[in-house]
Amino acid sequence: MSSSSTASLVAKPIVLFTVTISITIFFVLSSQPYPYLIKPAPAPAPMARSFILWLHGLGDSGPANEPIKTFFTSPHFKNTTWAFPSAPSNPVTCNYGAVMPSWFDIHEIPVTADSPKDESGVLKAVQHVHAMIDKEIASGINPDNVFICGFSQGGALTLASVLLYPKTLGGGAVFSGWVPFNSSILDQIKPPAKKTPILWSHGMDDRTVLFEAGQAGPPFVEQAGVSCEFKAYPGLGHSISGEELRSLELWIKSRLQSSS
Ligand SMILES: *[C@@H]1O[C@H](CO)[C@@H](O)[C@H](O)[C@H]1NC(C)=O
Ligand SMILES: *[C@@H]1O[C@H](CO)[C@@H](O)[C@H](O)[C@H]1NC(C)=O
Repeated sequence: MSSSSTASLVAKPIVLFTVTISITIFFVLSSQPYPYLIKPAPAPAPMARSFILWLHGLGDSGPANEPIKTFFTSPHFKNTTWAFPSAPSNPVTCNYGAVMPSWFDIHEIPVTADSPKDESGVLKAVQHVHAMIDKEIASGINPDNVFICGFSQGGALTLASVLLYPKTLGGGAVFSGWVPFNSSILDQIKPPAKKTPILWSHGMDDRTVLFEAGQAGPPFVEQAGVSCEFKAYPGLGHSISGEELRSLELWIKSRLQSSS
């Protein structure tokens, strides 16, 4: 994310806060002269708890991505637990062995549809993600209200994590990612995971994870009977746009279940 888009995000919660205050004042003042005409303001319906896990890209950190959540201004997200974990430090082959935050190894940049894959590293990272999901579900969150999202390497890990999870989740959203294993993994996908919907967004001008690597995603998961909505963003390189995040908000909102 560029620093300019981060800066514009930060102002949003302040606006929301102001609006909430003025609505409250309106009810208090106007109910004085006409108490018999004004119904008491209904208590806001409680929202079921939900969990959104965001997985960052190579060399990035969880905290640096936290401003993403300021896009989610709908009251549907008032009971959402967010997690922005940071990847462990690992040597990365495409960076000549340099050690940096990395969920698994990447052999070459740009990543193409046919790039070699670090399957054992991916499977290890998936266990780490599954442990985080298990913890939230054990605390009482409905698996249907668990959403895994990620950018680039974190997008590839998102795909692997939702496909290999033993339960149906609310959804997995892959931004500028790729399929980090070959088709032998398809046999390991449990029937409940096949019902988890996938949203795949990819910039058409991506020179780091090629657009073709993204386009290979939907046919791959559809072999396993998983549904995948693909959104191509013309003019977008290897980054996340506000338009993508707004459509992610709507996508998650439309899938949130009202009970926990
Ligand atoms: C959040 O969910 C819990 C558990 O279902 C519920 O008790 C609480 O009222 C909810 N909070 C909000 C702000 O909706
Ligand atoms: C697919 O992945 C499995 C597990 O890592 C590996 O054993 C197999 O050789 C791979 N197949 C191809 C065609 O790359």
